[in-house]
Amino acid sequence: MIRIRDLGVKYGNETALENIDLDIPKNKTCAIIGPSGCGKTTLLYTMAGLIVPSSGKVLINGEELKSTRKETGVILQNGGLLPWKTAWDNVALGLKARGMDKAEINGKVSAILEELGILEHRDKYPNQISGGQRQRVSIARTLVLEPDLLLMDEASSSLDAINREHIQNLILKLYMKNPATMVMVTHSIEEAVFLGQTIVIMERAAIKHIIENPYFGDEDIRTKPEYYNICLEVRKWLSKELSKEEEDK
Ligand SMILES: Nc1ncnc2c1ncn2[C@@H]1O[C@H](COP(=O)(O)OP(=O)(O)OP(=O)(O)O)[C@@H](O)[C@H]1O
Ligand SMILES: [Mg+2]
Repeated sequence: MIRIRDLGVKYGNETALENIDLDIPKNKTCAIIGPSGCGKTTLLYTMAGLIVPSSGKVLINGEELKSTRKETGVILQNGGLLPWKTAWDNVALGLKARGMDKAEINGKVSAILEELGILEHRDKYPNQISGGQRQRVSIARTLVLEPDLLLMDEASSSLDAINREHIQNLILKLYMKNPATMVMVTHSIEEAVFLGQTIVIMERAAIKHIIENPYFGDEDIRTKPEYYNICLEVRKWLSKELSKEEEDK
């Protein structure tokens, strides 16, 4: 599905990504983790076609990505909801923009709001619902468009631990029901191991290590020791990065 070859991105003189090679097969999930400023968001935006690479390329289904594609769904860190529109209208917006007729929009929007447990909040504005509910509205807004590629930047980071696990469970449930290719950027080791079939550990502007996670898809994995073994492995790779930075000082 996604094939990244020798990708480089620069912001002016600053190199944000260099020599990135990464393959993400169709309908697999990939979690990207790494220290602040290492280039995670830049990599995600490049996959979305929102940033044009300085070198190398991103291929989606064998075709070089030149701009955004309508089959790609992006969920940003702050959710990006329009504050002056209700939950319902925020979710319906993309379908309206695609010229879908009203009856079909009504059916799809109520189905996804129901699925995400927020139908009762349909007429509220983003500032009248909780952070977790807002996050669910922004997930609904993206999923209602039925993307074949879902890109998420820190989708649960603004939530407390319990709510974060709820959102993670929900994302896993939705994925199991309707698989799509999913790439998520996260700061959380536990989230990366819970939601990533492949876990990509980044260091400054580069990929440091890739771990294949055989336990992906097990809803109860958090209660099992294997889960913590993989978490420890990810932590080990991340702390290697820290100790290298210390050495450089
Ligand atoms: N628009 C921009 N202009 C200039 N430099 C930028 C821009 N966006 C990001 N950068 C720089 O590129 C590097 C990578 O940024 P990026 O946002 O991809 O990091 P990140 O891994 O997502 O960090 P965080 O975990 O803090 O979100 C950083 O050094 C950042 O300062
Ligand atoms: Mg970021």
